[in-house]
Amino acid sequence: MTREEILQQLRSQVKASRYKHCLGVEKAARELAVRFGYENPEVAALAGLLHDYAKEQPQAEYLRLIDMYGLDEALKDWGNNVLHGLVGWLKIKEDFPFIAQEHPEILQAIKTHTVGSSTMSMLDKIVYVADYIEENRTFEGVDEARKIAQRSLDAAVAFETVRTVEFLAKKRVPIYPQTIETYNAYVNALTAVEE
Ligand SMILES: [Fe+2]
Ligand SMILES: [Fe+2]
Repeated sequence: MTREEILQQLRSQVKASRYKHCLGVEKAARELAVRFGYENPEVAALAGLLHDYAKEQPQAEYLRLIDMYGLDEALKDWGNNVLHGLVGWLKIKEDFPFIAQEHPEILQAIKTHTVGSSTMSMLDKIVYVADYIEENRTFEGVDEARKIAQRSLDAAVAFETVRTVEFLAKKRVPIYPQTIETYNAYVNALTAVEE
């Protein structure tokens, strides 16, 4: 697939503002890859570009994927925010067969991009952080996140996860267990840069 074909396919699945966000994450992921010495910045860029490809799928499509690929039934209790990564990567696998064949690590990074994990690869961290700090983001704290991401990828993962846990707890909504695992695995990296 050419870049133009990939962009066209992405544009057909997400609204204009999300398409712009995806281009921002593509750029941020490439920059993080270069900064922290990831072996293939273009792979990181492609993972960033497609990370939210499945974000606007109807609930029925996530349910189809869970059933078809035999994923954990408990996923059905969670909303779009969790499902577009943990389930949505299978949509990307279906629609972009070359990715599964040539760069399965991209699917892994997209699967993990909203909840993280306790054993993130460098590419997983790059996409997770790029999603948070890309140039179109304007929320309070994003500048601090960008500053931390200049110095340490692990600390940037930790900062983002702390903020996510705080945000969800303040809203009094359940937190997906894997998010807590990510928090526990990386929170010390943040204390290290804050000292
Ligand atoms: Fe996402
Ligand atoms: Fe995103």
